[in-house]
Amino acid sequence: MRTNCCGDLDKKDININVQLCGWVDRCRDHGGVIFIDLRDRTGTIQITVDPEQGSNLFQIAESLRNETVLQISGLVRSRPPESINKKLNTGEIEVLAIDLKILNEIKGNLPFTVSTHDEEPVKEELRLRHRYLDLRRERMRNNLLLRNNVIKTARNFLEKENFLEVETPILTRSTPEGARDYLVPSRVCEGDWFALPQSPQLFKQLLMVGGIERYYQIARCFRDEDLRSDRQPEFTQLDIEMSFMSQEEILEINEKLISYIWKSIKGIELQLPFPRLTWKEAMERFGTDRPDTRYGMELTNLNEILKDIGFKVFSGAIASGGTVKSITVKNGNQLISNVRIKPGGDIFTEAEKAGAKGLAFIRVRENLEIDSIGAIKDNLSSSQKHQLIDRTEANEGDLILFAAGETETVNKTLDKIRQFLAKELNLIPKEHTKKSWNFLWIVDFPMFELNSEENRLEALHHPFCAPNSDDLGEKRLWEKQLSSARAQAYDLVLNGLELGGGSLRIHNSELQLMVLKTIGLPLDQAKKQFGFLLEALEMGAPPHGGIAFGLDRIIMLLAGEESIRDTIAFPKTQQAKCLMTEAPSEVDKKQLKELHITSTLSKNE
Ligand code: AMO
Repeated sequence: MRTNCCGDLDKKDININVQLCGWVDRCRDHGGVIFIDLRDRTGTIQITVDPEQGSNLFQIAESLRNETVLQISGLVRSRPPESINKKLNTGEIEVLAIDLKILNEIKGNLPFTVSTHDEEPVKEELRLRHRYLDLRRERMRNNLLLRNNVIKTARNFLEKENFLEVETPILTRSTPEGARDYLVPSRVCEGDWFALPQSPQLFKQLLMVGGIERYYQIARCFRDEDLRSDRQPEFTQLDIEMSFMSQEEILEINEKLISYIWKSIKGIELQLPFPRLTWKEAMERFGTDRPDTRYGMELTNLNEILKDIGFKVFSGAIASGGTVKSITVKNGNQLISNVRIKPGGDIFTEAEKAGAKGLAFIRVRENLEIDSIGAIKDNLSSSQKHQLIDRTEANEGDLILFAAGETETVNKTLDKIRQFLAKELNLIPKEHTKKSWNFLWIVDFPMFELNSEENRLEALHHPFCAPNSDDLGEKRLWEKQLSSARAQAYDLVLNGLELGGGSLRIHNSELQLMVLKTIGLPLDQAKKQFGFLLEALEMGAPPHGGIAFGLDRIIMLLAGEESIRDTIAFPKTQQAKCLMTEAPSEVDKKQLKELHITSTLSKNE
């Protein structure tokens, strides 16, 4: 149907006859001559329709609406000098139309415009409802192109390193990754259910037992969890597993993979190795295990200085096992008014959202005198004041914000405020330069965290991560030491976003059972749920480990987008719905009957 693509034509094609297909991007009538911008995936080209080529042709051109699907044949010629457009690839040429054929007409009104020339801000809801039209626009076209290139580049690297791409099942058993499962009823095995994989975790481990040694997959994962701009119910991981590799070797090859992608896609040479921070240090200095290190304003622990202060909010928090921490806002006296940090203010509200009951503050004045609302100032001795100013590295004009209480809430509060203020005060470098791609490995995660609602330990990553052998000691101590051990687990963080996570795995069935017991799975249940894994671990499982990167997140950052929805062709909304197909939807009663399912939902619920 076509000899060339619109965006590929240039000066070298002058005087050749071409046949092109595409969409009408826009039409302009210039006193008797009609210009059509014809668009396909490669770009646009100007088509000139001259009445001298025949009135029939001209009549068709006059009636064209934007987005009509068109086939044209014509002659490539150079544009008159005054109409040359240097910004376009095809800007020095045009095609003189000899024939025009409408392949499909537009019926009714388009919900939004496609052309970049009259692009208007369109509500995301409308874009998702008519995603096919949105995909024709430059932004989504570029993002999908980028997605394709990132995947191709990753494949390229991994194939060169002898990784084997293997597909793992979608209809499977539950893989615990901390979210709810999407379940699929089995018609044949009455009453039984499949779960869609939250990740290919167990299968990739079994591939290692199967002697594959180096595996990767562009793996679709399904998680029923609360959605955010960086979370989708179905998303894609670049999933990797390796045998006979130490943690160091795994980190190294993955750094190389990431820097290969950045170099190929962005032309940026990243500095290797990436910095590393232990989980403990990250929590202490930033209050989060995915710190954005592009700016300072780190957290300061003030327990030592303030433990005896008369101000009970602080000393009480410390006495009951909690913490007092602060952040120092440079020039905060000038930049931030009291209204904003007192109840009702925007910064106070951020603190509240993180669970804080209050937000104490001090303003540092001339000669390092301090000012505070409430009782802090009056309860500080001169020595405490000096130590405080010293520790927080505050200077005249700075504002110190405090959080006190349970350590977890304190960290969460100051992390949230730190991020909020970094945006507000423009502390984040705007343009991505080499320095502003702050990759960071977080290592030495704890094996478990306390689920305080259920009062039991939970695996921080998943229950297949290997504990650090230094923390376990001799075999007879394993069970005792396990709950406080560090895991040989690592996350890759970029500018405050978790890009990927992985670990070395347990390859000893006894130890695996112990971990399952620690998270509250009794032996019979552990065997029922994970018997296949425990059995495989007893049949020559090699030491192994791996990682999974959130592919959608990598593409989002490379594209400079704010949401992974803009990197996925057909994403779901915050309510996990597809606005175009209206999935999920009701199903026929007959289908439910076949699956032996009755609903407990009454229509009024
Ligand atoms: P984890 O659960 O950390 O690890 O997932 C790996 C990476 O996947 C991305 N990610 C998501 N992206 C979009 N939407 C979501 N709902 C979502 N959830 C996670 C994140 C995350 O870092 N099996 C382990 C990996 C391993 O141990 O090898 C796993 O799935 O970028």
